[in-house]
Amino acid sequence: MVSTEGVTSCVLEAVLSHLLLSCALLFAAVAAICWYIRDSRTVDGLGRKCVFITGCDSGFGNLLARRLDRKGVRVIAACLTEEGAAALAAAASPALRTLLLDVTDSRRVARAAQVVRAEVGERGLWGLVNNAGRAVPIGPTEWMQKEDFDRVLDVNLVGVIDVTLRLLPLLKRARGRVVNVASVLGRLSLVGGGYCLSKWGVEAFSDSLRYQAGCSRVHPRICLTGCRLLPLPRRDMHHFGIKVSIIEPGFFKTAVTRLDLIEADLKRLWTRLPAHVRDSYGATYCDDYIKSQEFSMNLLCSSDLSKVTGCMEHALTARFPRTRYGAGWDAKLLWIPLSYLPSFVSDRFTSALLPSYGHK
Ligand SMILES: NC(=O)c1ccc[n+]([C@@H]2O[C@H](COP(=O)([O-])OP(=O)(O)OC[C@H]3O[C@@H](n4cnc5c(N)ncnc54)[C@H](OP(=O)(O)O)[C@@H]3O)[C@@H](O)[C@H]2O)c1
Repeated sequence: MVSTEGVTSCVLEAVLSHLLLSCALLFAAVAAICWYIRDSRTVDGLGRKCVFITGCDSGFGNLLARRLDRKGVRVIAACLTEEGAAALAAAASPALRTLLLDVTDSRRVARAAQVVRAEVGERGLWGLVNNAGRAVPIGPTEWMQKEDFDRVLDVNLVGVIDVTLRLLPLLKRARGRVVNVASVLGRLSLVGGGYCLSKWGVEAFSDSLRYQAGCSRVHPRICLTGCRLLPLPRRDMHHFGIKVSIIEPGFFKTAVTRLDLIEADLKRLWTRLPAHVRDSYGATYCDDYIKSQEFSMNLLCSSDLSKVTGCMEHALTARFPRTRYGAGWDAKLLWIPLSYLPSFVSDRFTSALLPSYGHK
């Protein structure tokens, strides 16, 4: 027989547990709404702000330049080629200014910084988007020579550092934004060559720009570590009001992922290898590698570049920009979650994408 007290306590327990669940759901809903409102707030006076973007001949940089220009932002778009600059100028309003810039040429970077200084004056530079990049040579590490690494690292990493350092005084003046384009390959090294290294480097450079690891004598805040008092790490650029964001796109259809260019370069690397190295992979390895790469790229590459430029725009115009933006479904649902799993899981996954080695 069930006692009255037993029934009462069961009912009470059910009500209480539902009450807790309801409270938790209500709290989550309120937190989500607050986050959404905070995330949607934008900065004032966009029309008076100036943004400098590298690599605007094509792809994300080109689209971002045109979109910001349409919103009334003053854009200085750096292009690698005269044709790229002319095409962009024709597609944009007369307010958009183009200039030629190869980010690997330090003298040109210094000259570009002078042009930007003259353009922005005392107001300073609101936004710097380090977007210029290249992927090839990309492929198995053993197929590379040191120069192959240099060619990619010089653009994707050293170029980013050079441009940022030159423009930092102008960004400090405006208490502006730095937006660095990394990649999901800055979290997972799925392929050899300089590309993944450069994007890991961009992540590290951006983080170090945002906060200076270590201690600062002048920082007033302190924390307790055991029984010692230690100054908290100081946010490097945050101190000057500069906000640094990292964009981590998945795979998108642009010149960087053009399969014909990547494949032609892979064949060049393969034929350059000594015969005994080619033998160790097997005669058909290069073709198999190209086929499996084609398969995964065709499956993953999105043609909606606005997913990436939307993140860049948010980083430039939101009152509270995010530190990291994963762009694209593959980045959000596959690569970024995979990067948090133990290495043996990502290793298994990566090797499943590659053809098998050995003689056939
Ligand atoms: N597409 C993707 O799936 C993907 C994914 C993750 C990250 N990203 C990154 O997104 C950024 C933009 O790439 P994208 O996909 O839009 O490809 P893209 O169309 O090739 O854009 C890259 C731009 O950088 C320019 N560039 C190349 N070398 C340069 C140099 N030395 N100095 C200055 N500019 C240079 C290119 O000029 P030319 O067109 O004249 O060569 C091009 O305008 C890159 O940093 C890339 O690594 C792309």
